[in-house]
Amino acid sequence: MDTLEELNRRGFIEESIDPTLDLFEEIEKLKKEKNAIVLAHYYQEPDIQDIADYIGDSLGLSQEAAKTEADVIVFAGVHFMAETAKILSPEKTVLLPDLKAGCSLADSCPPHLFKKFKEKYPDHLVITYVNCTAELKAMSDIVCTSTNAVQIVESLPKEQKIIFGPDKNLGAWVAKKTGRDLVLWNGACMVHEIFSREKITKLKSRHPGAVFLAHPECEEAVLELADYIGSTTGILNYATKSNAKEFIVATESGIIHQMEKANPTKTFIPAPPNNNCACNDCPYMKRNTLEKLYLCIKNGLPEVTVPADIIREARKPIERMLEISASLGL
Ligand code: 13P
Ligand code: SF4
Repeated sequence: MDTLEELNRRGFIEESIDPTLDLFEEIEKLKKEKNAIVLAHYYQEPDIQDIADYIGDSLGLSQEAAKTEADVIVFAGVHFMAETAKILSPEKTVLLPDLKAGCSLADSCPPHLFKKFKEKYPDHLVITYVNCTAELKAMSDIVCTSTNAVQIVESLPKEQKIIFGPDKNLGAWVAKKTGRDLVLWNGACMVHEIFSREKITKLKSRHPGAVFLAHPECEEAVLELADYIGSTTGILNYATKSNAKEFIVATESGIIHQMEKANPTKTFIPAPPNNNCACNDCPYMKRNTLEKLYLCIKNGLPEVTVPADIIREARKPIERMLEISASLGL
């Protein structure tokens, strides 16, 4: 068994697994034995999505983490998501299969620099996108996700001055949709910033009937081409309700698993990035594997912890988001 030091350095438990084991069966057994629930984001690999008790976007995952009665939450997603679950359910054990499943967007906003930035705008309210560290949430007035960012801004009086961080692309899209002048932090997601407007335009001309779906973390030049812009759940629901047969999808490729499951006769084409890589995988999300998930639930490690003072401060803006979302039926 790893020492805690080794585990923190590597990020996951390294232990040989009997190759004859059916990991799906073993994980189901362990879930019952430990009263554990597996929450997975749509960007996880298909096997993890298939073993999860709940699959969703950031808002759905936070809502689920707040209401679960399980003793253990195994978070198949990235670190900030597991932190959010811990903040909402501090009495529960929150596990993350790989502690190094971070996020380039969260990393693009170091809390000590954001603190200085915030000090320049003392009369501004701070809205932070959930894709940030717990420490940043603790400095915020309201948290939002891509599902509710527009409505959360609109719920505030028109004259209210607002700082929005850390995603400048989501912030610019929200500013455009609401007509508000937001002060933006200059952060971005490496996966959503890589899509190529030029290649998407060519792809659209080769597939004239295809509907183009994009996540608001994409750059404005890409969003301008979109027929629909929304969170991962929004994108999935839009494709499922649509009568179109072909879709070009500008978000992480993991979502396509659920899109194909719900729509077996429709075709989903990942939007091309501006390099020669054919995939739109998030390297952080894809650090989790079925094997790491199995070892994590079996050993009860790695565990995500958040200091008590950060939990106290970060909980308020997250709860405010959940209250506003519930009142809007989101
Ligand atoms: P949503 O699933 O909330 O749309 O978030 C996308 C994302 O980038 C998560 O890391
Ligand atoms: Fe972070 Fe982007 Fe990966 Fe989401 S897709 S976890 S925002 S790096």
